[in-house]
Amino acid sequence: ANDQRESLMIVTNWAAKFFRETLWNSDDGQAIGLSYFKERGYREDIIKKFELGYSPEAWEALYERAIKEGFGEEFLQETGLIVKRDDGKCYDRFRGRVMFPIHNLTGRVLGFGGRTLKTDKKVPKYVNSPESLIYHKSDVLYGLFFAKKAITEQDNCFLVEGYADVISMHQAGVENVVASSGTSLTTGQIRLIARYTKNVTILYDGDAAGIKASLRGLDMLLEEGMNVKVLLFPDGDDPDSFAMKHGAESFKQYIAGNSKDFIFYKTDVLLKDAGNDPIKRAEVIHDVVESISLIPDDIKASVFIRECSLLLNIEERLLISELNKLKLTAA
Ligand code: GTP
Ligand code: MN
Ligand code: MN
Ligand code: MN
Ligand code: MN
Repeated sequence: ANDQRESLMIVTNWAAKFFRETLWNSDDGQAIGLSYFKERGYREDIIKKFELGYSPEAWEALYERAIKEGFGEEFLQETGLIVKRDDGKCYDRFRGRVMFPIHNLTGRVLGFGGRTLKTDKKVPKYVNSPESLIYHKSDVLYGLFFAKKAITEQDNCFLVEGYADVISMHQAGVENVVASSGTSLTTGQIRLIARYTKNVTILYDGDAAGIKASLRGLDMLLEEGMNVKVLLFPDGDDPDSFAMKHGAESFKQYIAGNSKDFIFYKTDVLLKDAGNDPIKRAEVIHDVVESISLIPDDIKASVFIRECSLLLNIEERLLISELNKLKLTAA
């Protein structure tokens, strides 16, 4: 099985080189792929660092080249680089897309995300490598290879939604950042972060989906014993667009000044929805205590109960009795 994994990694790493060379050396790569990255504001050193590439707008470009170079069809298929049709014909999965290689902790390529350049809403924006023997989405964080040193140094990890967010933040000089990229955050991913730090700041997109994902993500992080802060971008912005619009310095100031402890964040978000309706406000209290009940460390939990009591102007003993009820039903 290790031999098999090694063979697959040789194929994905070869493919990464193929996409990279297509980006830098072919006419289409330069005119379409590289121009796209440059229009987004990516610098050349950053494009190289993340080994970004371009997949030719053709059905069999990678397939033909790979067979010519002696790679077995079954490896191309298992890594998802090609798709085999029912009639046995094979075609390239990634066509005419800019390519984001996904690295493991030692910098080897496990799979890809490919972004379309079309604005047609019917075309999926991103196509990703399927699950394979070497690529398990739920155990991979995009950017961790490039971030791990900075995460340890800063003792904090920024968690974002997408590839572009990771890359733009590096370009802005913020390197302790990873993305869960298209899957909702998993326990496996959180445990990967926990090897380097216990402190996570969620920086999700400022839209309804981002808010929903942040609330679910923060509960999962609390459950794993992490300290959680959250920052939401203005509606319509994500870390990438914000950094590109306002520049590195304002970006860094914005995240330093607007990250909130999870309890303030969650209370704020829910209270905004509840308005002055007393029943809804009671539900908010309940929901916030529910998050606190997930914290494994009792001392930390009690600190947040105190915080919550001040914040919502509720007697602490009521919150404690609510917390204990929740813990009983969970046990
Ligand atoms: P840009 O438009 O390039 O800035 O991408 P984004 O990262 O801002 O995209 P978005 O916020 O819409 O989505 C966040 C992440 O979800 C992306 O980086 C992808 O990993 C994933 N994603 C987005 N769209 C799709 C899709 O159509 N299919 C799949 N499988 N994943 C997607
Ligand atoms: Mn799997
Ligand atoms: Mn989004
Ligand atoms: Mn986004
Ligand atoms: Mn974006």
